[in-house]
Amino acid sequence: MIDVISDLARLRARVRDWRREGLTVGFVPTMGNLHAGHYSLVTLARKHADRVVSSVFVNPTQFGPSEDFTRYPRTPDADTSGLQAAGCDVLWLPEVEAMYPFGVGLAANVHVPGISSVLEGECRPGHFDGVCTVVTRLFNQVQPDVAAFGKKDFQQLAVIRQMVADLHFPLDILAGDIVRETDGLAMSSRNQYLAPQDRAVAPVIHKVLQAMRDATRAGMPRMQVEADAASALRGAGFVPDYAVLRRPDFGLPVDGEGGALVALIAAKLGRTRLIDNIEFELPG
Ligand code: PAF
Repeated sequence: MIDVISDLARLRARVRDWRREGLTVGFVPTMGNLHAGHYSLVTLARKHADRVVSSVFVNPTQFGPSEDFTRYPRTPDADTSGLQAAGCDVLWLPEVEAMYPFGVGLAANVHVPGISSVLEGECRPGHFDGVCTVVTRLFNQVQPDVAAFGKKDFQQLAVIRQMVADLHFPLDILAGDIVRETDGLAMSSRNQYLAPQDRAVAPVIHKVLQAMRDATRAGMPRMQVEADAASALRGAGFVPDYAVLRRPDFGLPVDGEGGALVALIAAKLGRTRLIDNIEFELPG
């Protein structure tokens, strides 16, 4: 039976007991409204640790003033039973006062420079500071050996890896593959905001990412690939924030040079902002 804990002292006692028994701890932080993508992270964490803690906390500090914090879907009962079925041992449900004891406005802030200020960071100023600030707190609360994050939030994963390396967190980061609906749409809690006519169009993002990969492999210059992608998105009714090709460390690729690449898109469809990406190799 999954243990639902909202008290930090109880969480610490639970983790301490596991450690006394020589067991390792995996961690999956979430904002709830869980779907198969989240549950695949629990499975991944289970493969690398003896016990798994997952947190549900809709973190106010990573939402901009005009973003969807208040309407972000909250489904605690479904999340609890889903996590139990996925093999999670403890659901950590902190209150906002426990997470930010001095108040959100006075919270010590964690900022990862450079990578936090491009793409998502440019479109959502302060977003990655909020993510790093809450993930630092969650890591200190749970003290896991491994923590799993999804590759759908490709830049978030890169920011967290840099933070973990830079601040010497004693844990390993695991990256979970993107889980897609049968029509190719990457699973996301925000997909449910889509009106039916927009939901039918949303898988175009994945098709455009595949076209970016194929055109790059066929030798098309990066700027042309990016321009074609943005215009395909606009043609389908999206308002793109970006459609770009980058190295996995977010460096700019040089045309014709082989190696690992990632195509990334963020685009609005109606009031819903979707992000997705595709990783691929270019022969050198
Ligand atoms: O990816 C998310 O759901 C959130 O950004 C995270 C990592 C749980 C921090 O609030």
